[in-house]
Amino acid sequence: LDNGLALTPPMGWLTWERFRCITDCKKYPKECISENLIKRTADRMVSDGYLDAGYQYLGIDDCWLERNRSSDGRMVPDKERFPNGMKAVADYIHSKGLKFGMYEDYGNKTCAGYPGVLNHEKVDINTFVEWEIDYLKLDGCYIDPEKMDDGYPAFGELLNKTGRPILYSCSWPAYQEDAARKPNYASIAQHCNMWRNWGDIEDSWTSVVHIMDWFGDNQDRLAQYAGPGHWNDPDMLLIGNFGLSVDQARVQMAVWAILAAPLLMSVDLDSIRPEFKEILLNRDIIAVNQDPLGKQGLRVWKKQGKGTQNHLEIWNRELHDGSHAVAFVSTREDGSPYATTFNFDQMKLDDGDYEVHDLYKDEEIRYLKSGEEFEVRINPSGVKFYKFIPKKLEDPKTEANTVS
Ligand code: GLA
Repeated sequence: LDNGLALTPPMGWLTWERFRCITDCKKYPKECISENLIKRTADRMVSDGYLDAGYQYLGIDDCWLERNRSSDGRMVPDKERFPNGMKAVADYIHSKGLKFGMYEDYGNKTCAGYPGVLNHEKVDINTFVEWEIDYLKLDGCYIDPEKMDDGYPAFGELLNKTGRPILYSCSWPAYQEDAARKPNYASIAQHCNMWRNWGDIEDSWTSVVHIMDWFGDNQDRLAQYAGPGHWNDPDMLLIGNFGLSVDQARVQMAVWAILAAPLLMSVDLDSIRPEFKEILLNRDIIAVNQDPLGKQGLRVWKKQGKGTQNHLEIWNRELHDGSHAVAFVSTREDGSPYATTFNFDQMKLDDGDYEVHDLYKDEEIRYLKSGEEFEVRINPSGVKFYKFIPKKLEDPKTEANTVS
């Protein structure tokens, strides 16, 4: 969507993956979807360096509404959990230099059963503008997916007409992917800043592997539609929660960077362990994700069979300066790290000389010469993530000149 927003993949924090639909603030005062959760997260995003690193949007997902609209048909935030209303929340977020994201659903109800926008589009958009939101995730429960091809663009146009720049996150294709007729990504990219393509991420390695497989298997249909202003969305980062080891969290961060995916954390920033925080704040990997060329990377090699290259895959993203970010992912779950070598063809790199930087900084800088093979040793369910910087072959004439 050409509205000046999301020129690089959006970065921020969303409630859903970690905090779901926790609404009982008496039992779970730190976890319930509430003004308190949003404020303490805003504080952390600033004080702990997330905003500086690029995480800008702070979003409330489902379960923020009262069960019923007001008598004049307006959305009402839960009165106990948002006692000061949403404008107060927005003001707090904005006072911290963050941007405010909200969730609604294009159908009759949200996925968790709260009032949806259908037949209330105008009044709801006005309300969102009064609240000064900067980001809207519009889900697609309780509506016929056939209606989305017209409905999502129509809603987006109303949003656009308000004059307030609001990033438009669509769930449109996620509800059409399983149907016989595949989503029209050209139209989706024209009308949305980002879009959930597929099923929800869950807090497990299995879920991360499924999503990687799906985005790899379908990349020929998807990757071309990613670019400045419009991005495929493989869903939130699980990093720092219950289901991923440190190595597995590194895989998610690396592959999401290659995919030019929105980086939406969903984790308790008060209690996140330092090793996970370090992954989320890795500037070199964020730079890959935010690369201005905006070209989504591809899974360029994958092997399932037996042998040392069993269950390995290579992901490669071309960057604006001609270098490549390359992730070597192992989905093995057995034993120790296995060493293996790859050639240029397998890595989908032009033959030549390269300087190779480990983006997780476990290794010193390496040099790869034309025709050589590259050795990697990857932990089980882990990743090695490098930037390959081409070295111009030395021009013999210039050398001669320097000598004389
Ligand atoms: C759907 C979406 C999730 C989340 C929930 C909220 O399942 O895909 O990301 O927004 O609804 O109910």
